[in-house]
Amino acid sequence: MLVRLDETIASDHGLVCDLTRWRNTARTSFLTQFTATNERTSSWLRNVVLPNESRMLFIITGNHEDRFGHIGLNNICSSHFDIDNVLRGNASAKSGLMFYSAVSLMTWFFKSSHAPLCRLEVLSHNAAAIKLYHKLGFHEADRFPLWRTQTIDTVTYSREKSGRLSTQAPFDCIAMEISVSAFFSIHSWA
Ligand SMILES: CC(C)(COP(=O)(O)OP(=O)(O)OC[C@H]1O[C@@H](n2cnc3c(N)ncnc32)[C@H](O)[C@@H]1OP(=O)(O)O)[C@@H](O)C(=O)NCCC(=O)NCCS
Repeated sequence: MLVRLDETIASDHGLVCDLTRWRNTARTSFLTQFTATNERTSSWLRNVVLPNESRMLFIITGNHEDRFGHIGLNNICSSHFDIDNVLRGNASAKSGLMFYSAVSLMTWFFKSSHAPLCRLEVLSHNAAAIKLYHKLGFHEADRFPLWRTQTIDTVTYSREKSGRLSTQAPFDCIAMEISVSAFFSIHSWA
């Protein structure tokens, strides 16, 4: 099941702990890399995710409210939406969990928004994610180099060089996309 994050869910301490643990396990998969803490996760949910009207985060849950991971939508507008914050938190949950979560979410949002395009970005070293996105039908639309910038507690990878301390990253960012027609032609059962 996909359960949309709201104020009540965001204040669930168990959820915050799960998200923090998962984020630390998958640290190198994301553009901003830091040691997550419960305080930082809670603040991100309340101050970044919830107030943003072009963003939604869904928790992937089981029948007994067990939590398996999360998946989000971002940059929602009339011409496109992005898939982001894709994370399997539970390694032993069924294979295909993330695939079917993504198909469900994209089916619902393509149908309800009428946006013609879904996009995402992934680091080129992230073989598991690229494999999942190819199976979903995404293709590479663009690829660009990244600049690595380190501050006291955070490493950030971005398209823009941030001063003299930035160094070129040993991997790229891949922009992938799929049109609504390609999506429903591949997943005609959805
Ligand atoms: C990226 C990540 C979400 C991929 O998760 P995953 O566990 O591979 O996802 P799934 O369980 O859905 O696996 C996809 C599987 O579904 C299978 N699958 C099931 N039904 C399918 C169908 N109808 N059609 C195609 N594939 C299907 C695929 O074959 C694939 O199995 P395989 O890997 O054995 O070939 C996970 O590795 C992760 O959380 N990584 C850390 C965070 C991360 O990198 N996030 C992405 C940032 S961009």
